Amino acid sequence: MVKLVGKRIIFIAVFISGNGSNLKSLIKNFKNNSKIKISLVLSSNSNAYGLVYAKKNKIKNKIINYKNKNKAENIILNLLKKNKINVVCLAGFMKILSKRFIKKFKKPILNIHPSLLPKYKGLNTHSRVILNKEKFSGCTVHLVTPALDSGRILSQKIVKIRKNENASKLSKRILKQEHILYSKTIRKFVSNL
Ligand code: GAR
Repeated sequence: MVKLVGKRIIFIAVFISGNGSNLKSLIKNFKNNSKIKISLVLSSNSNAYGLVYAKKNKIKNKIINYKNKNKAENIILNLLKKNKINVVCLAGFMKILSKRFIKKFKKPILNIHPSLLPKYKGLNTHSRVILNKEKFSGCTVHLVTPALDSGRILSQKIVKIRKNENASKLSKRILKQEHILYSKTIRKFVSNL
């Protein structure tokens, strides 16, 4: 991993695929931050609503065509290099980055996942949590490694599940916590680079 020295600005690229509420909160929280700058937003989906936030805030944004994964990842690697990106933050990015990509980028990649990892990796976490009658769920920020949702855990927020709560209600409550946890964790992570 590359060690970043001095008081240089950390340029962050956020990868999205959908609503982009985490992106929205990151933009808001880092807007006046002198050390952290969100300078690139990449979307795997041309209809991702999150692109609106990038455009509104005049952040460079690109749609990546994922028809050919290898080609898509090469384009992303070039964009990250060209824009001197120091850290990638996945925020509802629904593509799995290949081992080759992670090896080539060499810099930290963070992800936010809507469960208390290592429990409930993958998709549909909230409905699985409800189905299993769990008492607690939450969200996790972790480093991205080639194994899905398995890199070093940086932070977690526990959310107590309410009586008769359904997956949709739980997901909304956890999403609110994600917005707080992700910015807080990125700020701390970057301060240690
Ligand atoms: C968030 O809940 C995020 O944790 C999840 O997708 C949602 C995106 O919401 N990510 C994953 O499930 C990745 N495995 P957003 O687009 O509103 O930020």
